[in-house]
Amino acid sequence: MNKLFIANWKSNKNRKEAQYWMQEFLEHIQKHKMLVDIAIAPPMCDVGFVSDMLASTKNERFHLCVQDISPFPAGSYTGAVGTRNLTGYGIEFAIVGHSERRTYFHESNQEIANKVSECIDAQITPILCVDIENIQSQAESLKGSEREKVMVAFEPTDHIGTGIADTYEDITAAKKLIDAAFSPLAFLYGGSVNTHTDSRIMTDKTINGYIVGTSSLQVPEFIHILSS
Ligand code: PGA
Repeated sequence: MNKLFIANWKSNKNRKEAQYWMQEFLEHIQKHKMLVDIAIAPPMCDVGFVSDMLASTKNERFHLCVQDISPFPAGSYTGAVGTRNLTGYGIEFAIVGHSERRTYFHESNQEIANKVSECIDAQITPILCVDIENIQSQAESLKGSEREKVMVAFEPTDHIGTGIADTYEDITAAKKLIDAAFSPLAFLYGGSVNTHTDSRIMTDKTINGYIVGTSSLQVPEFIHILSS
């Protein structure tokens, strides 16, 4: 796979805005030679139409990602959306353990480990988010064999939504710790990736992708990041 850029819309956009974003994005992206892979991570309620719109392009560089997943299998878990519910939508990736879920929804390492297992059982690749202080404890919470089946995103909370990405040096140092703790499928970075992000962060071949939050909300800005 090429470098993977994930547009994480978080809880932004209503249906109309989300549809408009998709139309504008697909219209503009076709004009570029695509050298990267792109995953859209819409709010759960938009997964259906985003799935249809991506499928209609028949472009293998587009992927669908969910922002979260239930830690439980199908059953009596009111309000939860699990892998079984998502079958048939072409979901390839799921973000799990995002710091906003850990902070606002009080998710524990164990709950996140259960989400990882749910994803792996359903052949969805988990994109496990960690900050520096939970790399080790989160790795230890996973079943041994699952540590190699996750993509790990280094997401330093101090840099999320601030407009200033972490330094290249911090990111490469975190990668070493993550590689030692997980042997992950891929290493991603997330936290204020924007058009001003240090070019070393964007071009380093050992950084396999990026989670882009705020700067993915407007199509021109997101495309600017992709094309640079
Ligand atoms: P940000 O969000 O780009 O707005 O910092 C990234 C993320 O939280 O995944």
